[in-house]
Amino acid sequence: MGSGRRTLPPRVVLATGNQGKVRELSALLGRWGVEVVSQSAFDVPPVEETGETFAENALIKARAAALGSGLPAIADDSGLTVDALGGAPGVRSARFAGDAATDADNNALLLARLAGVPASERGGAFVCVLAMLRAADDPLPILCEGLWRGAVLEAPRGEGGFGYDPLFLVPSLGRSVAELAPAEKNTLSHRARALGALRARLLGR
Ligand code: IMP
Repeated sequence: MGSGRRTLPPRVVLATGNQGKVRELSALLGRWGVEVVSQSAFDVPPVEETGETFAENALIKARAAALGSGLPAIADDSGLTVDALGGAPGVRSARFAGDAATDADNNALLLARLAGVPASERGGAFVCVLAMLRAADDPLPILCEGLWRGAVLEAPRGEGGFGYDPLFLVPSLGRSVAELAPAEKNTLSHRARALGALRARLLGR
């Protein structure tokens, strides 16, 4: 398990219960002929994301999914880092406004924290770290990251996507991520970038 040639596996389990991520990652992996199975098809117990880094949390999730499914597993840990907030909400993006926070709660708190901060200082990035384990005991996981820089708007715009999408401006397009078509988001996003890096690693490019 510690060495050996790496290729794109025919089937992987996706270690996430977040339907927004399942949709995006399945669309991207499907294009490369990889069959994606949701971890909800297996008995994967919920895990606590106790890591202080995106990488640690991605590994925790991928290991649990590989163990519960017996398949290679890919986990995504992602979030929004805002420069003016010292990188917050960061690894706590999903729980920014509390353990049971909704996307609306988190977005409201983000706007409150940035109240009075001018547009020129509202920069940040969506960050994604993907971890892939060939099996639960794989001692050599692959970790890849993707960054998508932009800025936090002063009010939500658009209906698409999930999470912080309505508040995240893509400066080159002048639109929020929630105003992009899913296919457009999938060519630009932090997840798409991390997945591109993972594919390149697996194919040896
Ligand atoms: P995780 O499930 O612990 O990785 O938490 C990810 C959280 O980061 C989500 O609940 C969202 O709040 C945020 N997030 C990650 N990716 C995106 C995205 O593509 N759009 C908007 N929010 C995102």
